[in-house]
Amino acid sequence: MDAPLLAIENLRTYFYSRAKRAFIRSVDGVSLDVARGETLGIVGESGSGKSVTALSAAGLVTAGPGVISGRIHLHSNGAQRDLLDGLEKYARVTEQDGRVMAVEKDERGWRKHSEALMAGVRGKEIAMIFQNPRSALNPYSTIGKQLVETIRLHTSLKGESEARERAVHWLERVRIDSPRLRFDNFPYGMSGGMCQRAMIAMALSAEPSLLIADEPTTGLDATIQSRIVDLLAQLKTETGITTLLISHDISVIQRLSDRIAVMYGGTVVETGRAAEVLAPQAQARHPYTAALLASIPSAETIRRKSYLQAIEGEVLDTIEVPRGCRFYGRCNRVTEAIRESCAGLEPPLEEVAPGHKVRCWLYPAAGKA
Ligand SMILES: Nc1ncnc2c1ncn2[C@@H]1O[C@H](COP(=O)(O)OP(=O)(O)OP(=O)(O)O)[C@@H](O)[C@H]1O
Ligand code: SF4
Ligand SMILES: [Mg+2]
Repeated sequence: MDAPLLAIENLRTYFYSRAKRAFIRSVDGVSLDVARGETLGIVGESGSGKSVTALSAAGLVTAGPGVISGRIHLHSNGAQRDLLDGLEKYARVTEQDGRVMAVEKDERGWRKHSEALMAGVRGKEIAMIFQNPRSALNPYSTIGKQLVETIRLHTSLKGESEARERAVHWLERVRIDSPRLRFDNFPYGMSGGMCQRAMIAMALSAEPSLLIADEPTTGLDATIQSRIVDLLAQLKTETGITTLLISHDISVIQRLSDRIAVMYGGTVVETGRAAEVLAPQAQARHPYTAALLASIPSAETIRRKSYLQAIEGEVLDTIEVPRGCRFYGRCNRVTEAIRESCAGLEPPLEEVAPGHKVRCWLYPAAGKA
């Protein structure tokens, strides 16, 4: 079988929080595969580590004493590289009882080595679109000029006029009206939805192997949101681009993803084909996924403007990670038979059906581990 385009193995990304005077285990042992041509959707509540997972893959975790370990294999254009290769020699982490006590890091050495690993990867092999498109566009340059620069830098089209034609082509592909006129617009003259379309054009114009879309519809108003989701769905069909899609909105994930990873407290708690994980009568489902699904407002609750069924309890503070299941404090499915395991031992991510994995002691496969 074809190797996955992106294979993340046991990724850990820790930050030092000055306010809390402690290390936060933002991503704490995440393993994920994204197959060529598929869209993997990562869903989870705020703070579950979705963005930090994506930023780690794009080599964008540079904040202060942030430290990353694990493997991020990218197989593209006939080459295989580990985007974290050799970084471990620049940092040493001391842990005790589930708490990170100290990190010794050669920040300059780390940054230099990381930049060398990411050369030719970020912006080219891996392109990203974010929540706030306006801030990602250069306010002093027209949309057209920014596109032309990206195309000349990252593709084989080096001439001004051919790059210009390709830029107009991408503005058309993202359904921007009057693309030849829009070419000369500055970002400030454009709406939020239009800026997001321009950013998508910019990302795709580099002809990347992987597109990372982190909350691409969040912050836009509801009608624009659904138009951007429609656009992403159309582009997925037309270009077949491999995508890592991140959203706290399970309905966006449901619409666009082939497979899903549900994150909680810095770990993946469930993963599988979207249709299977989200099937109303799923045989096995992590209690957290069930709670996320229950929090989707139904047409009826929207009509009656009644409250969302929020998930009870607080999102896990990943400074002191509990010994047992990370969801234990909020879980309503604990039975007497498994209580001791839930409280004392982190469940493994185990296969409950082919290609469908759940991290929960409720399922017999986990019990065998
Ligand atoms: N640069 C940083 N320095 C310190 N802590 C950070 C940094 N970036 C993220 N964190 C912390 O890491 C945890 C995971 O953050 P992350 O941004 O990945 O969450 P998320 O799942 O993307 O949430 P959201 O849905 O709000 O975007 C949070 O507790 C966050 O406060
Ligand atoms: S392992 Fe236990 S606490 Fe964790 S989700 Fe499953 S039932 Fe709930
Ligand atoms: Mg985020």
